[in-house]
Amino acid sequence: MAKRVIIDTDPGVDDALALILALRSPELQVEAITTVSGNVPLEQATKNAYLLLDLFGPKPPPILARGRARSSGKRRIMAQSVHGSDGLGELNRFKNPDGSTRYLYPKLPRDLPDATEVLLDLLKRYPDELTLISLGPLTNLAEALLTDAKRVKRLREVVIMGGAIGVPGNITPAAEFNIFMDPYAAQRVFKSGLPIKLVPLDVTEKVCLRPMEIENLAQAMEEPLGSFLCDATSKVVEYMRQVQGVEAILLHDPLAVGVAIDPYMVKTTLLHVEVETQACITQGMTIADLRPIRNDLEQPPNIQVALEVDTKLFLSFFKERLCRR
Ligand code: RIB
Ligand code: CA
Repeated sequence: MAKRVIIDTDPGVDDALALILALRSPELQVEAITTVSGNVPLEQATKNAYLLLDLFGPKPPPILARGRARSSGKRRIMAQSVHGSDGLGELNRFKNPDGSTRYLYPKLPRDLPDATEVLLDLLKRYPDELTLISLGPLTNLAEALLTDAKRVKRLREVVIMGGAIGVPGNITPAAEFNIFMDPYAAQRVFKSGLPIKLVPLDVTEKVCLRPMEIENLAQAMEEPLGSFLCDATSKVVEYMRQVQGVEAILLHDPLAVGVAIDPYMVKTTLLHVEVETQACITQGMTIADLRPIRNDLEQPPNIQVALEVDTKLFLSFFKERLCRR
């Protein structure tokens, strides 16, 4: 029986690879994709999700629902410098041999449903069966908790790509991007009592693809997936080379999908984790209680945190899935 999932996402190049992985994995039944502003503004994230479903989704596609643009983060940093102005590596740069644009965005329906309503409706249909995979800021999940916490707590599991426990942040020295962009939402989610599995930078920074691997993978994949992999990742790899001195794309979001499919790809530790929401320099920092002797009565552990990853297992799984015909 496939695991029913909802994927909340801010596509984003690694989100795109995560969505493709999920849509090509028979272990998952993608019931809905909900969008959130993060890497790019909400409207662009929604357009990108719609394009990805058009290119790589099943027919009929899963529900696509638009999230809430508002996020509580004080600063409005998007990540277009990393993912390109369109969030997908500036796909309009690429042409077909006849000179036509390679990626044509289908017209977005005007009446897309609301993400919170779709999540609550699906929980009504499938109580205790649904897994939420969160690949962006936690704005939508926090909104759903505000709307109907009782129903949201019928989620079977919440797999979240986010946070940095024993490693520096990636958007500030202290904070990881998804948490930083909406720290109040993250804190609300972390304190909610939901069964959360956190997939932080500690493990996602250990799974990456280098240019040669991307090239080889693309050759082995069917079209248009192979071309898309090269086209969409080229700008991120260039950014990583120029800014971080590492020529690779980090597979943050695909690992979260991998963990939802096979929990044994990572080793988790039950910890008490909170989010800094008041400070300025450390806004969005995820603070885990790592003390050997903790007072669990005062601050009971609330989140399963992935601190180790089977890099080899995940990468071979990821490559096999993308090449599967
Ligand atoms: O910090 C990495 C996360 O932030 C990923 O989900 C990436 O897509 C961005 O949303
Ligand atoms: Ca993301």
